[in-house]
Amino acid sequence: MRVLISESQIQDRVRELGARIDAEYAEGPIYLVAILKGACFFLADLARALKRPVRIDFIGISSYGQNRTTSGEVKLTKDLDFSIEGVDVLVVEDIVDSGVTLNYLMHVLEQRKPRTLRVVALLDKPGRRLKPVQVTYAGFEIPDVFVVGYGLDYAEGYRNLRDICVLEGEP
Ligand code: PRP
Repeated sequence: MRVLISESQIQDRVRELGARIDAEYAEGPIYLVAILKGACFFLADLARALKRPVRIDFIGISSYGQNRTTSGEVKLTKDLDFSIEGVDVLVVEDIVDSGVTLNYLMHVLEQRKPRTLRVVALLDKPGRRLKPVQVTYAGFEIPDVFVVGYGLDYAEGYRNLRDICVLEGEP
């Protein structure tokens, strides 16, 4: 296992993202929608990097079969608790890989008529994209390596690592 992005690099970047988001939104609360489960750590830090009021909610998405990235079939497993009609929604994601998850989610959320709908992703692997996704705020572009830590898992392990690490010899 080797460190790809250190804890201090993550924290510096999250602060920068927070400042940029603070500056670019109109007055009023931002509704942060985090995708379970990996984005929870990023959500917690990003929410505290923002100076403006926020609301927090969670949405769950999973694949129908074993093979989400090739089938592209996904479904909602946990819906939001609040309505997003007419409000500023910022979807918080830990990593965008094939784009299948976010592409699906954006279609679902758009139908609910938020005032604005944007995405912040800590990690972006643009080289892996199968479905188009517009990521307004991206923390780091990374190559096609398998990463764990800061919320990202391998078989549910490693989520609590403070750095983002490459798991060598794994898929
Ligand atoms: C990961 C990650 C994103 C998604 C990105 O979630 O958190 O939601 O995969 O991949 P995609 O762009 O190819 O759709 P995962 O399904 O591993 O769930 P988890 O967050 O609970 O670990």
